Amino acid sequence: MSSASERREELKAVWEQARTCQRCPQLAGTRTTVVFGSGNADADLMFVGEAPGANEDKQGLPFVGQAGRLLDTLLSEIGLTRGDVFVANVLKCRPPGNRDPLPQEIDSCQEYLFRQLELIEPKVVCTLGNFATKLLRDDMTGITRLHGRDELRQIGPRVVRLYPLFHPAAALYTPAMLATLRADFARIPELLARPAPEQPEPVLPEPVIEEPELVLVPDDPGDEQLGLF
Ligand code: URA
Repeated sequence: MSSASERREELKAVWEQARTCQRCPQLAGTRTTVVFGSGNADADLMFVGEAPGANEDKQGLPFVGQAGRLLDTLLSEIGLTRGDVFVANVLKCRPPGNRDPLPQEIDSCQEYLFRQLELIEPKVVCTLGNFATKLLRDDMTGITRLHGRDELRQIGPRVVRLYPLFHPAAALYTPAMLATLRADFARIPELLARPAPEQPEPVLPEPVIEEPELVLVPDDPGDEQLGLF
């Protein structure tokens, strides 16, 4: 595979492409900035939230509001900082009024997230809430049933350990959910310490079979061709 610095450069190229994205006409018209994601481009641990809110839209960074402060606290409780992880969202643009992402928007934006996962090469991916969990599991099972259960999943070309968690914004005002989120967070170091998931054989591009050049070989070379008189 390519080196960490090559993957980082490629990630920057994807960001360049995303910053002027016009795939969702409404979001492109109402956003202040495209919130691509931030953190360590070679992180073992990645978090995927839902979509930027008002603060994120203003600053161009994910999870910088109240939910972000809770995420920082939970990270510090397991000895990590934002610099150790990469944080992104399902949608890179703020839905107006913080409404839910629309299926069409998720469809249009998902290529950026899948490229991020492919280039950062995390071992563990924590989905925060329903939108990220449903997208990355490609299944409609909700977060209430899935939180705190890790599983190996192939996402694009790579296998990662997927670990669904409650969304910090939902946990902010529900003490029982916060306690559960904290308990689920406490297992992250153990998941990171496991060996990296085995990767499938890379799918190589189909070999290009070149038409052989047409060489005319006479069946029975005549005297002329043999240079005989
Ligand atoms: N909620 C999210 O899902 N993402 C953010 O970036 C901020 C709040």
